[in-house]
Amino acid sequence: MLQKGVFDVEKIRQDFPILQRKVMGGKPLVYLDNAATTQKPLSVINAISDYYTNYNSNIHRAVHQMAEEATIAYEETRKKIAKFINAKSTDEIIFTRNTTEAINLVAYSWGRANVKKDDRVVITEIEHHSNIVPWQILTQEKGAKLEYVGVGDDGYLKMHEYRNYLDSNKVKLVSVSQMSNVLGTITPVNEIIRSSHEKGIPVLIDGAQSVPHMPVDVQKLDCDFMAFSAHKMLGPTGVGVLYVKRDILEKMPPFMGGGDMIKEVHKYETRYNDLPYKFEGGTPNIADVIGFSAAIDYLDNLGMDRVREHEIDITKYALDRISGVKGVTVYGPANAKDRGGVVSFNIGDIHPHDLATIMNDHGIAIRSGHHCAQVLMERLDVAATSRASFYIYNTKQEVDKFIEALDEARRLFKI
Ligand code: ALA
Repeated sequence: MLQKGVFDVEKIRQDFPILQRKVMGGKPLVYLDNAATTQKPLSVINAISDYYTNYNSNIHRAVHQMAEEATIAYEETRKKIAKFINAKSTDEIIFTRNTTEAINLVAYSWGRANVKKDDRVVITEIEHHSNIVPWQILTQEKGAKLEYVGVGDDGYLKMHEYRNYLDSNKVKLVSVSQMSNVLGTITPVNEIIRSSHEKGIPVLIDGAQSVPHMPVDVQKLDCDFMAFSAHKMLGPTGVGVLYVKRDILEKMPPFMGGGDMIKEVHKYETRYNDLPYKFEGGTPNIADVIGFSAAIDYLDNLGMDRVREHEIDITKYALDRISGVKGVTVYGPANAKDRGGVVSFNIGDIHPHDLATIMNDHGIAIRSGHHCAQVLMERLDVAATSRASFYIYNTKQEVDKFIEALDEARRLFKI
């Protein structure tokens, strides 16, 4: 285990068993698909295994010892998350399956109670489908309008468009990603939240890419909702988090009815459980929430400032190196400080899937496709891009291998 506050990539790598594996007939794995999901340190894998081996039980229900242990471990994660994003209280932290479910919870519960005919919901062209489709469903159902803040060719949001929407005085909600999963753009959420609040408009921040990669403080931001996923920050799949400011959460109707979200159920009426349990119907993903706890410990131990520093460093290096490759178009802000650790690009007319296949032959895992951001692909006027994305365990040597493979692809396709 790493010494607290020390960022030593080689030591970090030793905590991740999967990084020792060979792929494609003996090539060391170069894992550059971290925006899709990150790898898991042994402490996370062990925490899950420990739960199933030693105290597998349901939570919040039975009084036996193992149920008590499982409940304590599950609720301990909630406390750690509250501290990690600096929420005022654990009551503001709701466990979901993923970011998608967290945003849908807001759209179904808060959205249905508050968005009316002719209201507007404002999002941006850089959004992931999970921050588009729920608002399409809601606005279509309510006869409201979905508006997009555009993105410039430089990868930055067109903030004048956003200000124009606010001036319409019809906006009910602004929902925006803090970091694009394609362009890497870090959006000006402070300004967005401040100016929306001047008009009394709540703001949802999609933190799926930002919370794993930089320090995020929900009280400082003053956002009303924030959604993110465990699996993009060393934790298991199947666990998401929705943060909601308490005064808003208190007024929200439940999302899913069932066990655990109730205090009393009678034939024709129900008294709902206290916050946050009112929003956690059914047996949750106990093992993976407990695994998430170990992931937060790991990141806390490193320090999110250092995680961000490493990412700026490696992204800057990757941007510098890739800009020297003939025929490459890189998308997103040129300055590594304005973006997260994702580099999306195209090279000549090589189809991204072909490029990803060539990369795979070298043992390099990247993602190709539309990255669940087809609105952005339309805006960029491309069907797909290739994307390399980095995390705490990636090295500059891995970036070098990626660039060598890129050069080989270029030669193969005679670019
Ligand atoms: N949202 C994930 C990605 O960007 C799956 O790859």
